[in-house]
Amino acid sequence: MNLVVVSNRVARAIANEPMTGGLAAALLPVVEKSGAIWVGSSGRVREGAQKEPFAEIEALGAGALAMLDLPAAHYGGYYEGFANSALWPALHSRSDLIRVSPDDYQSYREVNAFMARALMRFRKPETVFWVQDYHFLALGAELRDLGVRHPIGFFLHTPWPARTVIGGVPHHRELVEAMLAYDLIGFQTDDDCDNFLGYLRSDLGLPIENGVVTSRYGKSRCAVFPIGIDPEKFALQAARAVSHPDVSRLRRSLNGEKLAIGVDRVDYTKGLVNRIEAFDRMLTMQPQLKRTVSLLQIATLSRGTIEAYGNLQSELAQLVGEVNGRHGEADWTPIRYLNKGFSQTVLAGLYRTPHVGIVTPLHDGMNLVAKEYVAAQNPAHPCVLVLSKFAGAANELDASLLVNPHDIEGMARAIAVAFSMPLAERRMRWEAMMTKLRAGTIQQWFVDFLDALQDAHAAGEKSDAIDEVVPDPPAGWPLRSVGSTGARRQ
Ligand code: F6P
Repeated sequence: MNLVVVSNRVARAIANEPMTGGLAAALLPVVEKSGAIWVGSSGRVREGAQKEPFAEIEALGAGALAMLDLPAAHYGGYYEGFANSALWPALHSRSDLIRVSPDDYQSYREVNAFMARALMRFRKPETVFWVQDYHFLALGAELRDLGVRHPIGFFLHTPWPARTVIGGVPHHRELVEAMLAYDLIGFQTDDDCDNFLGYLRSDLGLPIENGVVTSRYGKSRCAVFPIGIDPEKFALQAARAVSHPDVSRLRRSLNGEKLAIGVDRVDYTKGLVNRIEAFDRMLTMQPQLKRTVSLLQIATLSRGTIEAYGNLQSELAQLVGEVNGRHGEADWTPIRYLNKGFSQTVLAGLYRTPHVGIVTPLHDGMNLVAKEYVAAQNPAHPCVLVLSKFAGAANELDASLLVNPHDIEGMARAIAVAFSMPLAERRMRWEAMMTKLRAGTIQQWFVDFLDALQDAHAAGEKSDAIDEVVPDPPAGWPLRSVGSTGARRQ
């Protein structure tokens, strides 16, 4: 198989570089091993790029990473506009935050079409395309329009909301119809898959049998593939990382205090305001905890040019200041609030240090931080995970302390319980969660999806023209091979 993986953000195998984005970090080790070509955005734009895709290629394990400069005229409308100001809020059931201009949808489609043209460069007779996430809902349809009859799969890393919510996205019908060009559409949870099928049934009036929908593209299978991590590798990384200077400095700074940790992008879906309010409430309800516990909140800034994100950054900074002002002492700060990113290695060590991990999104596709936090624990004295029941991870990590992130007082109580949980109970809960993590690794997820994609393609009518002749890539297609040195074009 010649696998081509596509996502907006890609990750490069550079040690000690801060990791941005759960998807990119999760895919890196498996894509690296698989020998796939991973295609995504270079993070740069290029004038006139609509006509000539420009890719920078570098080695990635047994395969390669191809980073494309996206068209300057459409990048803003695609990324900040339609993807992150229409789809992202809707997919997380925040239709109140949808803000788009009519041109944004046009730009989104242009970038999807641009990516499809760029992918033709990597097409061989045995190619399998695997498209990731909401940035490229229409990419499969664009590829089909270019005559591609190969297997094309799609996996959504975010939730898929109720049909009435997705109905708030401009052009929702056209977009969902375009998604049916995929042979296989994968979701994180049963709820997401059911919501999608509900929309197909009720709004598009399409026939569905055992998760297989029939449309003008032929048959598409919809199924659930909860994404995992590599728990053993993460555990090893965490055990080694405790001697990292950043981690040992943190340990030394605690002076016998117990610590809770949160690691999130600053995003309204992550429930950061509610979490800080819950910590504040806990200190008010149980003042005896002052000086004995504190919170380290790592909050990496994200999508700051979008109004809702900019507002949230200011709100959080102010709120943390108020809580520290209210409860702090000359020699004690209740909340350490950092806006910087850390490498996977350091994060693994930081996860092993505190007594409580707090992962309380209002809505999240999976949330791999929750899984990584569990895997990073010392088996002899594991810490406690306080987890939102609205994170996809709650389905597997049901031995955590599950909370409703809208119930501030309930969260405050749960965090206090976590701080004082006896070792025997901590161990029991942790072992139950590790068993689940070992049963659903990222490697298994990768293999399961690709197997199901081959099956879905073989069973669907889209396979009819698979034996078409594939032309050579167009001559002069501007590619630059960078090799494995990690050097980058400026
Ligand atoms: O769907 C989830 C996800 O792709 C995560 O990987 C990541 O946290 C985010 O969405 C993408 O963020 P960004 O806009 O920074 O690429």
